[in-house]
This record gives sequence, structure tokens and C-alpha cells, in this order.
Amino acid sequence: EKAGYDYFMLKEIAEQPKAVADTLLGRIDGSGTLSLDEVRIPPEVLREVDKVVIVACGTAYHAGLIAKYAIEHWTRVPCEVELASEFRYRDPILDQRTLVVAISQSGETMDTLMALRHAREQGAKVLAICNTNGSTIPRESDAVLYTHAGPEVAVASTKAFLTQLVACYLVALYLGQVRGTKYGDEIRDVVRDLSRISGAVERVLETMEPVRELARSLAHKNTVLFLGRHVGHPVALEGALKLKELAYMHAEGFAAGELKHGPIALIEEDLPVVVVVPSPRGRSVLHDKIVSNIQEIRARGARTIVIAEEGDEAVVPYADHLVRVPATPTLLQPLVATVPLQVFACELATARGNEVDQPRNLAKSVTVE
Ligand code: M6R
Repeated sequence: EKAGYDYFMLKEIAEQPKAVADTLLGRIDGSGTLSLDEVRIPPEVLREVDKVVIVACGTAYHAGLIAKYAIEHWTRVPCEVELASEFRYRDPILDQRTLVVAISQSGETMDTLMALRHAREQGAKVLAICNTNGSTIPRESDAVLYTHAGPEVAVASTKAFLTQLVACYLVALYLGQVRGTKYGDEIRDVVRDLSRISGAVERVLETMEPVRELARSLAHKNTVLFLGRHVGHPVALEGALKLKELAYMHAEGFAAGELKHGPIALIEEDLPVVVVVPSPRGRSVLHDKIVSNIQEIRARGARTIVIAEEGDEAVVPYADHLVRVPATPTLLQPLVATVPLQVFACELATARGNEVDQPRNLAKSVTVE
């Protein structure tokens, strides 16, 4: 069943280009138009939506954090993202014009299910993004957009995460298309970029050997930090979560701009810090700011592991280890930047002798609140 791989996780990491392509299949066309007829919420209802609220747990929550950037940018509708376990306990403000998006690979996560039940009781419409046909969360939602990752067996979510991102982009772009925002041309361009993205994921996978080597050399470390900005911040959180659950190491993700507000005190000699660098094209201010952050932490002794776009030369002098990813539009970068972090965590877990597919204390689907 593992198709020659030592672990399901390795197989599932390798399946990501196909999972991404399958999730796009039939939903976008060459002219840059989306057809999401399966989202049975009528366009006139979607046009009236005045707030989007995303609820999810763990890795799916990180997909939601990235979705917020895409939804707010392409639709100009305010979007909140909340841990499903916190949602109903704070008496959230919801009504008929709220679109709640519940993201869950398994479709059985109790925290997410209770959040969506609460949302529907308040009259909100719920759209599920789910990988498991006929599971409870899509059954109880108004509509569902299935991710086509295929069964994910390893407890650590990898291919499901990438397909959740794709589904989130589709929802954001579709909302933009239906509502006719001024981003019409950009939306058409991004739809075309998305149709090529699975090839970019494939290219990342082909260049992972140095990342594996690096991971093995860090097996004796206690702490790894992750930094990012913009959509790179949730990517940093996801990299840290993977390392916690697989390698049982202390790992934390930070927004790079927060460094000076506290976390920089953690930096000490030879501490590995992974930095996810935004594209130097487009939002170049962010890029320049993060390059300064890399300089700051390196001056204090950090061992910098830099994930940067091909052709980004500005990072070279400050990177102890440089991992290249293909150039993508900023909002889509998480699809390529997350992959090295998955490989890194998986290899570190193996080097530390941990059970990769079945980490201690964890279950694949968490059906208790
Ligand atoms: O099945 P779900 O997507 O609802 O699961 C949510 C989380 O439990 C899940 O993503 C968890 O954080 C993974 N173990 C992360 O790798």
C-alpha cells in the first residue's frame, strides 16, 4: 500500500502534484473562468454575503489563515479565521449574510462540527471544504467543495493541506468572480497560474535532497524557529506544527515583524531558524523587510535556513542554507513553500527514530471536543 515508500507520509508528500491537479480538475478552464456549480449556494446569496468566517483546527486552520489573505484581497469582503474549538464559546456575531467556511480533511473533527452547528443555528450559510466523501461535516453543511487528495493515512497532514489551499483559492476567486470585483483581470491571471502550479510543486519535490541532509544534521537540536510574513506567516506556523508532531521538538512560528517585540530574545548561537521569504516581485517592501530580519538574527548567531524564490539574489549573503522554490504569485507561494517544511519534519522524525506515520499521543481524526 505504501507503493515502495517507507512511510505513508513520504508517499503522500510525493502525491501532492497530482492531488493539487485533481482538485483543480473540471473547476477551471483555459480562459481563466471558474465553474463551481457544486457550490449549491446561489450566486445571489453569495453576492449578499458581508462577512466570511473560517473555522478549522490544526493544519486546516493554517489553510484558513492563508485563505483570509486571498479572500480579502480578491473579494474585499472581511474575513475572520478562528480555531473551531474557540468559536462557539465566545458568542460570535453571525447572521444570514455570513458565509462560514468549515475546513476539515476528515470531515469528522468534533470541534469543527460543533462550530458549524452553532453557525447554522444563527442562520449563517456553511460551506465545507472536505476530503472525505459523505462524512459528517459536509453532510451537515449547506454546500461542500471536495478536495481530491485521495485518502490521507499518515497522521501528519500534507497533501490534504495543499488541496485545502487550492480549494480556498477557488472559493476566494469564485466569490470574486460572482461579485464582479475590480480584480477581474487579476482573477483571470491567477486562475491561469493555478493551472500550472502542480508542475511547480513537482519541481520542488525534485530538489529536496539537500533539505533531507540538513534535517539529519539537526537531529540533536532541541529548538527550531520559523519566521514568515504575509502568507508566509501561516506557512511558518505549519512548519512548526509539523516539527512538533513528528520530531517532538520545540518549534515555534512567528510573524517576522514580531521579532523585535519579543521573540528575538530567543536567538542564540547556532539556533536553526527557518525563514520563508516572500517574492521580491510584487510586494517588494515585505521582501526587503524580511531580508533585514534575516540579517538581524544572523548577527545574533542564528543558523539561517532560507526558503526563497528562484532568482532572489538578495538573500544569498545571509543564508547559511538556501532552499529554492519556483517563482509564483505571492498569494500562491504557500503551495510551494510548505513542501520543504514537510520534508524537513519527516526526515528529522526519521533521524530521531520516531514513528513517522503514527506520532505519539495523536490520532488521525479527533472525534472528541
Ligand atoms: O480532519 P481535520 O482536517 O479536521 O483535522 C484537523 C487537525 O486535527 C489536523 O489538521 C491535525 O492538526 C494534523 N495532525 C496536522 O498534521
